Amino acid sequence: MDQDQLKRSAAQAALDYIAPKLDGSSVVGVGTGSTTNHFIDLLAGIKHTFNATVSSSEASAERLRGHGIAVLDLNAVDGVAVYVDGADEVNGARQLIKGGGGALTREKIVAASADEFVCIVDASKRVEVLGDYPLPVEVIPMARGLVAREIRELGGHPELRQDFVTDNGNVILDVHGLKIFDPTELERTLNNIVGVVCNGVFAAQAADLVFIAAAGGVETL
Ligand code: A5P
Repeated sequence: MDQDQLKRSAAQAALDYIAPKLDGSSVVGVGTGSTTNHFIDLLAGIKHTFNATVSSSEASAERLRGHGIAVLDLNAVDGVAVYVDGADEVNGARQLIKGGGGALTREKIVAASADEFVCIVDASKRVEVLGDYPLPVEVIPMARGLVAREIRELGGHPELRQDFVTDNGNVILDVHGLKIFDPTELERTLNNIVGVVCNGVFAAQAADLVFIAAAGGVETL
């Protein structure tokens, strides 16, 4: 099985898991990225069993609408039954690095709004310690120099993501060289830097369930 087939297997596991929980009033939160794209395509097959979706990005919203699935503003819904999204790294405590696609802020908002956060990954994303993947940090543009200096003080090497503006009009610093032994503490520390909008450590907002697809099958964490 190639990596794309593994991503689809993880997405299928999430669909099988959430389908029995949905009813005509359910709102499904949908993330961003290539694994989530598989989930969106599979979700289209059960689109008559739930009310609508909320999306963490313009790109996913467009794909959902392309399948005839309603996409609502988060402020227009009372709650989100479940949020399904990929990740760039996952550790054994279901803590994540996210934001490779640059949608981390909206992803964290929708994840925080959901009753349950289901993460879908292929086995290449599973790590013992987070941090090999450069950690995305969304920053207000005028603060990028200030934030970069503060991150260097923490031992990280921030690089401005080139030719990229988030859906919120901000920039991304990808931080290399961090070994994240205490994700909760780093998430909090980065959030306290003035000018940081959001960072890609999902520790306070860890996944409730992770489906990890490998050649031998899908493992549940
Ligand atoms: C998007 O901003 C990210 O958080 C994605 O969820 C993450 O990058 C995983 O993407 P893939 O499913 O494409 O690997």
